[in-house]
Amino acid sequence: MKIVDLNEEHVPLYCLCLEDWSADISEAGDHKARWFEKFKDRGLRVKLALDDRGEVGGMIQYLPIERSTAQGEGLYMIQCVWVHGHKQGRGNFQKKGMGKALLEAAEKDAKDLGAVGMAAWGLLLPFWMKASWFRKHGYRQADRDGMAALVWKPFAKDAKPPRFIKLKKKPEKKPGVVTITAFQNGWCPAQNLTYERARRASVEFGNKVDFETIDTTDRTTMMEWGISDAVLIDGKQVGFGPPPSYQKIRKLIEARVRKLK
Ligand SMILES: CC(C)(COP(=O)(O)OP(=O)(O)OC[C@H]1O[C@@H](n2cnc3c(N)ncnc32)[C@H](O)[C@@H]1OP(=O)(O)O)[C@@H](O)C(=O)NCCC(=O)NCCS
Repeated sequence: MKIVDLNEEHVPLYCLCLEDWSADISEAGDHKARWFEKFKDRGLRVKLALDDRGEVGGMIQYLPIERSTAQGEGLYMIQCVWVHGHKQGRGNFQKKGMGKALLEAAEKDAKDLGAVGMAAWGLLLPFWMKASWFRKHGYRQADRDGMAALVWKPFAKDAKPPRFIKLKKKPEKKPGVVTITAFQNGWCPAQNLTYERARRASVEFGNKVDFETIDTTDRTTMMEWGISDAVLIDGKQVGFGPPPSYQKIRKLIEARVRKLK
């Protein structure tokens, strides 16, 4: 197994989170590819884990925290580490040491780039991106938002802990219509999938729905709202965790449309 930098050949696979077999990931559109085009010039780093046959089994992506979906100074932020664990497609590469090797390579790279520490987010739940996995690798908790923890590992004595970006304001409901406000960053295909489903479902209700997209790749916009990715229907966020189905989102919109006078 070896860890390599992302090369041109693997960009499309990386933009699909290594899940080129998944209908859900295709439904998530090209937001990740467009995000990558913007952020590769904003300090984004991506590494891949290849097995002995040269098959890509895992990926890690991190960027200066000042350009990420969290706040801090001089740290790099891991937006995502993923070792393909599904049976479909390329198969299960977990529990072979790829995760550990990716994390160690990213930390070394961040140190070489002069970072004072590494930050990452994880869930305080035993699934998806677990905060406990980072704790096992020497990270400690710096901040918390519901079931999400922001963890970090300082490399320097004067490093300051990172913080989550917290909600600062909510969109106002527009009169006479269901107001959908979609905060769209693009870094995560799961979030992009929720966005795409909400966008398509809203079209079904014509002018009864006002669908507005707020582009949070612009840092000033993200800081103004305190939100990076979310779909809000009349101010209420659509689901956390795995993306809700198209039908579920459609029903949520329909319930609000019925309440219109
Ligand atoms: C967290 C994650 C990256 C870890 O990847 P991994 O390659 O399985 O990780 P590790 O290298 O740390 O190994 C994990 C376990 O396999 C064991 N292992 C490592 N190499 C091994 C080997 N050659 N043989 C057997 N076991 C091995 C490790 O000891 C470790 O065991 P433990 O869990 O009991 O401590 C992976 O589980 C993952 O991708 N999870 C989902 C994360 C996610 O949802 N990401 C998307 C967020 S946007």
